[in-house]
Amino acid sequence: MNQKHQEVSEYYGETLEKSEDLQTNACCTITPPPKHIRDILAQIHDEVISKYYGCGLTIPNQVEGLRILDLGSGSGRDCYIASKLVGQEGSVVGVDMTDEQLNVAQKHIDYHTEKFGYTYSNVKFIKGNIDNLDQLDLEEGSFDLVISNCVINLATQKQKIFKDVYKLLKPGGEMYFSDVYSDRRISADLQNDKELWGECLSGALYWNDFLNIAKNAGFTDPRVTESHPITVENEDLEDKLGDIKFFSVTYRLFKLEGLESDCEDYGQSARYKGTIKGKSTSFDLDDHHHFPKGKMITVCGNTYKMLNETRFKDHFEFFGTWDVHYGIFEGCGGAMPYKESENGGEAGSCC
Ligand SMILES: C[S@@+](CC[C@H](N)C(=O)[O-])C[C@H]1O[C@@H](n2cnc3c(N)ncnc32)[C@H](O)[C@@H]1O
Repeated sequence: MNQKHQEVSEYYGETLEKSEDLQTNACCTITPPPKHIRDILAQIHDEVISKYYGCGLTIPNQVEGLRILDLGSGSGRDCYIASKLVGQEGSVVGVDMTDEQLNVAQKHIDYHTEKFGYTYSNVKFIKGNIDNLDQLDLEEGSFDLVISNCVINLATQKQKIFKDVYKLLKPGGEMYFSDVYSDRRISADLQNDKELWGECLSGALYWNDFLNIAKNAGFTDPRVTESHPITVENEDLEDKLGDIKFFSVTYRLFKLEGLESDCEDYGQSARYKGTIKGKSTSFDLDDHHHFPKGKMITVCGNTYKMLNETRFKDHFEFFGTWDVHYGIFEGCGGAMPYKESENGGEAGSCC
């Protein structure tokens, strides 16, 4: 562990005891979870919930039977939600470096096994540093889904993490994660402020650096599923931060061969069958790809692959080939996390 890791561990192991101890609203989730997640949350142990410090919803649709890895699993809230959603045959591994957080997560394994009606636990927690994912004895190509909730901003080897995740995923697998991003690069002075770093602010990646990091790691076409401005809500810390704007963003990154750097038009379409659990009328791949059941939607080559070469394949009918290229695909938005004009600058608050 380097000094930064020790400081982060102290922050989450000793300084903070519960969600309400946070000094800002960066590590808190603005959008209320959908009903199927709220129903599961009602089954999760209070102590696990009380130490939740996430900033988004990190569990996508259609996860039954999957093998999931959670980076920085904390007290285990998202792992237990995932444990229920993947079912007895799926499995979940949580990694965290802070003993106090891991202890809470581990303490309640039997409680949740029984609550979910399982005959054995499908979740395990391991102590580890996500900056060294390649040293944790995790098998390459063995995970369908990697999730993470407000953790990568706290890590120091951000590029390496995405490269390691790419190796750990199966082909067609995805990383689906929420984190904090900034609208500019953050100075070393601010990065050295323990509280600003611990509160998930000064370790945030500038969003355009993140996009390049993701692409360098092999995730060629990052997609935003949700984004919100973060208001901080702490005058002293806001004063230190000056004009920097922060966003909580959920990205999905698919491990797919042949994704192109831009959206290209091959005249393809996809029609959603309405068969994804809990999504009987429509399915959103990201914040600008909405698929109403039964409606033929024209898609770029990358979107076609994200539906056709992943776990979503059986839920769509596909039309078209790769034989003719019609030029650039007009209609795919960029992966910039938040466009102020779209939401009139509206920001949420929570906790
Ligand atoms: C903001 S909390 C989020 C915890 C959890 N994902 C949640 O939603 O409640 C950050 C967590 O990441 C862990 N963490 C931070 N940096 C880490 C690293 N480099 N390796 C492993 N865990 C880390 C901390 O110990 C802490 O539990």
